[in-house]
Order: sequence, then structure tokens, then C-alpha cells
Amino acid sequence: RAMAILREFEEKCGTPSGKLRQVADAMTVEMHAGLASEGGSKLKMLISYVDNLPTGDEKGLFYALDLGGTNFRVLRVVLGGKDDRVVKKEFEEVSIPPHLMTGSSDALFDYIAEALAKFVAKEGEGLHPSPGQQRELGFTFSFPVRQTSIASGNLIKWTKGFSIEDTVGQDVVGELTKAMERVGLDMRVAALVNDTIGTLAGGRYCNQDVIAAVILGTGTNAAYVERAQAIPKWHGLLPKSGEMVINMEWGNFRSSHLPLTEYDQALDVESLNPGEQIFEKIISGMYLGEIVRRVLLRMAQEADFFGDVVPPKLEIPFILRTPHMSAMHHDTSSDLKVVGSKLKDILEISNTSLKMRKAIVNLCDIVATRGARLSAAGIVGIIKKLGRDTVRDGEKQKSVIALDGGLFEHYTKFRISMESTLKELLGEEVSESIVVEHSNDGSGIGAALLAASHSQYLEVAE
Ligand code: BG6
Ligand code: GLC
Repeated sequence: RAMAILREFEEKCGTPSGKLRQVADAMTVEMHAGLASEGGSKLKMLISYVDNLPTGDEKGLFYALDLGGTNFRVLRVVLGGKDDRVVKKEFEEVSIPPHLMTGSSDALFDYIAEALAKFVAKEGEGLHPSPGQQRELGFTFSFPVRQTSIASGNLIKWTKGFSIEDTVGQDVVGELTKAMERVGLDMRVAALVNDTIGTLAGGRYCNQDVIAAVILGTGTNAAYVERAQAIPKWHGLLPKSGEMVINMEWGNFRSSHLPLTEYDQALDVESLNPGEQIFEKIISGMYLGEIVRRVLLRMAQEADFFGDVVPPKLEIPFILRTPHMSAMHHDTSSDLKVVGSKLKDILEISNTSLKMRKAIVNLCDIVATRGARLSAAGIVGIIKKLGRDTVRDGEKQKSVIALDGGLFEHYTKFRISMESTLKELLGEEVSESIVVEHSNDGSGIGAALLAASHSQYLEVAE
């Protein structure tokens, strides 16, 4: 009976190539719609105001603040220009107390500004900005923002585990600036960017062939370089570069082709943001472990999978995190002892048979594989939009996608499945020219680089 529940779930999660191609095509269609008009699609296709990516000439001391993943980080970067590049990089990671994720805007921004001020106070000898100059900051804020310039923008909604009502609709640079003033820190935000944009900028700095960036972490999202003329909803001046970076907010993508199950529906309904971020809820790190928990709970309730009593811990939402799931999924021991110990430590379930443990590994595999294959389909959607899904006249144009995020970094089986699905969908010949590159911490450097290219002290050469 428990196995029947598992098999039925597996069937509903199926992602054969044909279905993934439909997902990729739907992604391309929605990209067009989101670029055509505001509100034209579930895909917001947000304009980033980044129309020039780093060149390598950026120079000076810059700060970056990275908020939105599992932790928030503050960075100090010294850029040395063409020959020296990143001369120095220092950072500190601070975890965000959970109560601040659902509290008030001032409390969150004060906490961040204080951490930043403490970090700035540790600036070393000879690292100060030039006399009379203000310190400048690249602010990576990984939530959907309607930008009004490169250094301002209003929060559209929170995603992932955040939900602070009074920030919605506010200019997040204004919120941060006010908090910096409150803690006595004199610093100017020179660039406000999404983590995908930061990763794209950081990726491009290292490799000129980078055309898109994807985050697979707590949440999931993608950004890419679009031709400004292909953005009908953009009524501003055409940038000199002719390009504009777009933050897709693909986590909010949805399509009738997505293999959604009753477990996904229940997770969505009970989430902080029902009806939103459906793609994200079946792919990203915040949710994969929770989906596994929900299926296990059903197996326990309806088929006594763990015996007569339903293990009480199994009823606690989000108790089973994706890193636990990953550890079980990667268990190579013959008696699956990692699975056994995770069940015991996290769910207080003991005495599981090998057969049960195998079923659990299988469940992890079903959930991770679906997410990985769908993320690959999303990337194919972007490649199609850019017309890079075919080889023209035998000419091979290299396209590099910068990837970052905890899921991509630490969940090996997820990453391998995502990469092999890309090959499967693109075919041998095209996939030779599409490269996925891990852009480790690219978004911090990227934000600092964009702060540098939007510094108030740049001499405008004209
Ligand atoms: C980090 C980037 O490496 O990955 C962040 O610097 C990004 O900007 C993060 O938000 C996403 O991963 P996770 O797993 O922390 O959500
Ligand atoms: C969520 C956010 C998005 C971010 C992504 C990855 O989807 O809405 O802005 O890029 O998570 O961190």
C-alpha cells in the first residue's frame, strides 16, 4: 500500500523529454509575453537597469551586501583594474534570526545595517576611501523588485521564507539608507541588483561568453542579456550597448505542462505565498525536503509505513530540510546507514528496514530528479529565446551560463541530473557549445563591480 502511494507519486512527477520540451517552449512564450507588457505574464521579466556588464577596468574600494539566500553577507572588495582585477576580497557571513524574516521592515534593515557598520569598522590600514569620499555599496537583494533606476526600486512581493508586510511597495534602497543613517553609517548604495544579476555580472567579469545566470538555492531564478529592442515594454532611451539585462523571476513561472501533484498543491496552499512561485516550489532548496516529508507523512498515515503510530515529528512542516534529503539520497553504504541516522536524528524514527530505507532514497530521487529536469527545461527556454538552440552555418557560438546557489553547489545528484538533461534536450551538437559554469560567490563580486561602474566618482568620459 505504501509502495502504491510512492508509485503513484512517481508517475505524476514524470518528466519525459517531450514534456520538458513543452515546458521549455512555454517558458519561451512567457518570456516574450513578459517583455511585451507589464503584467503580460506570470514571468515579470524585470528590467534591471544594467545595460553594461563589467569590463575588467573597474577600480577602487567597494562594499557589497548580499541578502536573500540562506545567509546574508557583507563584502569588501578592492578592484585593481585590467591587470590586477580583484586585489582583495574579505567577507563575513551572518545568519538572519528567523523572527526578523516575518517581523517589521525597520527591524530587518536595522539588523543588516548594524552588521554592515561593524564590518566597515574593521576596515584595514590603507583601505580607506580617498579623503572626502563616501563609501559605496552594491546591494544584492534577492527578491522581485520593480527598479526605478540602477540604484532604486520597490519591492513587489517577498518570496522564500520572508514575509514583512510593511516593506512591500517600498523602495528597498530607501529602507536600507534610512537604517544606515540610524546606525550612523555614511554609505551610498550605488547599485541595487538581484542575485541573478550579480551572478551574471560576476560571471561575465571572469568569462566574456557568459550570457545568462541561474540561481538554484533556497529559491530559484534566472537572468540573461536581452537586446534592448526586443523589450517592447521598455520606453526609456535605447542604451548605447543595445543591451539590457533582464531578471526573469522564473520562480513564478507556471504552465499546464508542469507535473504538479496533490502534495505540491497542499504545500502551496499552506505556504506563506499561496498561488505564487509555483516553479520555485517544485525546484528549489527551500521546498524539496518538505515535499519528501509530505509524501512520507501520507505513507505513514494511510499505509502505516512506519508502523501503527504516525511519527509525531513527521507532522512538523519543514522539519526535513533539503540538505538532510540530499544526505539520504547520496548514501552509498550497503545498509543505508545515513538514511537510518537521519530518520532517527530528525524524525525520531528508529528500526527501519532496509526495504523502507530504499523506498525513502527512491522518494528523494523522484523529487530531486523532477526539480533538476525542470530547471534544465527552463534553461533551454532561455537558450531558445536567444536563438542559440541551433548551430548556424556550422558556426559554434559559445554560450556560458553562470550557476550559483546551495542546491547546485551541494546537491551533486541534482546538479548531475540537471546537466545531463540539458544535453538530452539540446542534442549532442548544440550542447557542445553551451557550458554551465559554477560562479562561486559571483553575486557579491558582481554587485561590487556594478557599484564601481555606477560610482558617483566616475569621470564621465564625453
Ligand atoms: C550565493 C550568492 O552564492 O548564492 C547569493 O552569492 C545567492 O547572492 C545565493 O542568493 C543563493 O543560494 P542559497 O543556497 O544561499 O539560496
Ligand atoms: C526567489 C526570488 C528571486 C531570487 C531567487 C534566488 O525566487 O524571488 O528574486 O533571485 O529566489 O535567490
